[in-house]
Amino acid sequence: MTHRAAEVAELIELIQKLCGVCLNESKLYLLETRLDEILVRHGLASYQELARAAASPGALKLRQEIIEAITTRETLFFRDEAPFQALQHKVLPELIDLKEKTPFPRRIRIWSAACSTGQEPYSIAIVLRETIPNVDAWDVQILATDISQEAIDKASCGEYEPFEVQRGLPQRLLHKYFQQQGKVWRVRDSLRWMIKFERRNLLDPFTGLGPFDIVFCRNVLIYFDKPTRRDILLRLCRVMPEYGYLFVGSSEYLGEFGPQFRPQHHCRAVYYRPNLPAQQPQQSGLGSGASV
Ligand SMILES: C[S@@+](CC[C@H](N)C(=O)[O-])C[C@H]1O[C@@H](n2cnc3c(N)ncnc32)[C@H](O)[C@@H]1O
Repeated sequence: MTHRAAEVAELIELIQKLCGVCLNESKLYLLETRLDEILVRHGLASYQELARAAASPGALKLRQEIIEAITTRETLFFRDEAPFQALQHKVLPELIDLKEKTPFPRRIRIWSAACSTGQEPYSIAIVLRETIPNVDAWDVQILATDISQEAIDKASCGEYEPFEVQRGLPQRLLHKYFQQQGKVWRVRDSLRWMIKFERRNLLDPFTGLGPFDIVFCRNVLIYFDKPTRRDILLRLCRVMPEYGYLFVGSSEYLGEFGPQFRPQHHCRAVYYRPNLPAQQPQQSGLGSGASV
């Protein structure tokens, strides 16, 4: 099926409103490979018809189908390695010390804010278990969210194909934290109970969430335009305490959002501590328009 660029403008706008993913006509091939099947299934003749059908108030299911088709859920265990090493060797030891001075010294809250099919939050849970010997005596919770229902369903099921556990997961950790059941590897309850999975759109207000000591918001901001990235980042700051740690993807540089987002380095890892008072800009003007 071929589509003229002019026809797709309405659909591109709708996709951005639904999930923030910012496309342009140069990504026509992406729309074609991912959405043409929806057109056929619903008997629609053009992207314009699809955009109009999906914009109607009752079309929740169709809108979710578009989101499922358009989101890129590429992920793997311990993606990029360095952030998880920083978590283990720098952030958690530092956080455990900091927590001593708070009213809840044994409570840790972490948010994996675009968790895809779960490899990221399970990697975080493994790091917690490998780093804190008596972790079961701690009040630890990892909230793992994603806009894709298919991703959340797979993540909370916790079953992975052999090719998935071969990507990034060392053999020692595979045998310690997963159980082979037939052809699949199932995550053990010791990890599963640490994580709460929920479908959530980063464009929606973060009402009722937080505070989170650590936020992983990795490899999702790249799909959004600059105002959307900025809005999400500012709202993330508001659900993190002063000492909070923020991890983004290795290609997601936050320096363009002001001195508040000064990178912190540990070995090859980069993370941010955007709420530290010493790093607050004199006159930020960043807060305008962003709602938590
Ligand atoms: C490339 S994956 C990254 C997964 C993981 N964080 C990692 O780094 O491996 C991007 C994820 O962002 C999710 N996503 C895209 N737009 C979103 C939105 N508006 N709200 C929440 N999640 C979103 C997609 O469904 C996808 O699972």
